[in-house]
Amino acid sequence: MRYLLVFFFPFFVFSQKDSLEISIENGRLLYDDFCVRCHLPNGKGEIGIIPPLAESDFLYKHMEESIKALKFGGIDGEIIVNGVKYNSRMEKMGLYDDEIADVMNYILNSWGNKSDKIITEEYVKKLKK
Ligand code: HEC
Repeated sequence: MRYLLVFFFPFFVFSQKDSLEISIENGRLLYDDFCVRCHLPNGKGEIGIIPPLAESDFLYKHMEESIKALKFGGIDGEIIVNGVKYNSRMEKMGLYDDEIADVMNYILNSWGNKSDKIITEEYVKKLKK
C-alpha cells in the first residue's frame, strides 16, 4: 500500500497543477480561431465598437454575465467597459462548455489579466439563460 501511494501521489499532484495550464493552452488556440478577429491579438478590441478583454473591469465585475454571453450569444442592451459604452452584439459561436471554460481561463490569464478563479466545464454547464 505504501508503495502504491508513493507511486500515485506525485502523479495526482502534477495532474492537478497542469489542468489550468492545459486549459489556458487550449483556450489560446480557441481564441485565435474564434475571438481574435473582433477582440484582436492584444485583447484590446476596438474602442466604442468591440470591448476590450485586456484589463476589462466588466469581465471581473460581471464574470457570470460574460460567460453567459459566450454560451448564449451576446448581451442585451448596452454595457460599459472601462468607462466606454458598447452596444453592438457578440454573436453565438457554438462553443462547447469545456471550450468556453478554456477560452475564459485563457483571457483571464493574458495581457496582464490575472485571476484566482478557475472556470470549469461543470460551472459553464450549470449556467442558464
Ligand atoms: C463578431 C465579433 C466578436 C467575436 C467574434 C467575439 N466577440 Fe466578445 N464581444 C463582442 C461584442 C460586440 C461584445 C459586447 C457585448 C454584447 O453587446 O454582446 C463582446 C463582449 C465580450 C465579453 C464581455 C465584455 C468584456 O469586454 O469584458 C467577453 C468576456 C468576450 N466578449 C469574450 C469573447 C471571447 C472569449 C470570444 C471568442 C470565443 C469572443 N468574445 C468573440 C464581439 C465579439
